[in-house]
Amino acid sequence: MAQQYLKGKVAIVTGAGKLNGIGAQSAIALAEQGANLAIHYNSSAAPAEEVVTKLRSLGVQAVAIQADASSIDFGKVLVDATLKAFNTQTIDIIVNNAGTAVLNAEGIKSVGAEDWDPVFHVNVRAPFLLIQAALPYLKEGGRIINVSSIIARLGSLMLPVYGASKGALNALTIAMSEELGPKGITINVVAPGPIKTDLSMEGSPIAVRLRNNQHIKREGTAREVAETILFIASPGASYITGQLIGVDGGIGFP
Ligand SMILES: NC(=O)c1ccc[n+]([C@@H]2O[C@H](COP(=O)([O-])OP(=O)(O)OC[C@H]3O[C@@H](n4cnc5c(N)ncnc54)[C@H](OP(=O)(O)O)[C@@H]3O)[C@@H](O)[C@H]2O)c1
Repeated sequence: MAQQYLKGKVAIVTGAGKLNGIGAQSAIALAEQGANLAIHYNSSAAPAEEVVTKLRSLGVQAVAIQADASSIDFGKVLVDATLKAFNTQTIDIIVNNAGTAVLNAEGIKSVGAEDWDPVFHVNVRAPFLLIQAALPYLKEGGRIINVSSIIARLGSLMLPVYGASKGALNALTIAMSEELGPKGITINVVAPGPIKTDLSMEGSPIAVRLRNNQHIKREGTAREVAETILFIASPGASYITGQLIGVDGGIGFP
């Protein structure tokens, strides 16, 4: 068997509590290459234990850490718990995958002022807080992967707040790449198209629009996104930073 290229690395994956989700599938892909995993969840406590069991069966150390991504101490809670769990002062890989959406089905008039903070706190502020808290422990070779969405670039009249939040995450990623590059740390966006998870939009007008724009006309799998995240986390991706990588079946832009 080939050498596991992430053997002994410490990875944090947020929103990884559900086996069918992009986060858990990414954690599994990283564990298959030997990484130890701190998986984060918010409400999916019991499913997160199933993910931990699966990860341990792959021969790595794994813990589940609960935290609400809308809380101000989200980053500190996750980083402190990870360092303690693995008795380390190093974090090698961060996958900011937790995300939430509000559907504004009737467009602009249906967007409430109260829709903004919950989505921006989870999708933008939480990834920032985690990176900020982890920075003292990220060394040369460190990898940060932020999971955005095709909606940031394609847009959707039903998802203006969600799209704006993922667009902000894209901009944040590019901004931070300038500071992190000289430290030998890469930071990139992986932007899924329609993926078969609990957040699937299949059957909605949004899915129809995405399908019309695709060259590979189907939903992707969480594993297909995870494979891209694994590559960006790998030593072979050392010269890739500040990039937006679509995993979307070839969606073109109008
Ligand atoms: N599926 C798609 O078609 C698609 C397309 C483009 C982008 N994405 C992005 O891919 C990422 C993963 O989504 P997914 O499709 O795999 O769906 P998912 O399984 O529902 O994963 C999203 C996770 O985010 C976590 N989360 C939500 N609100 C949170 C909060 N306040 N605090 C902490 N965690 C919170 C949830 O954790 P708990 O379950 O523990 O509460 C949930 O497991 C998201 O960022 C999403 O925007 C998905």
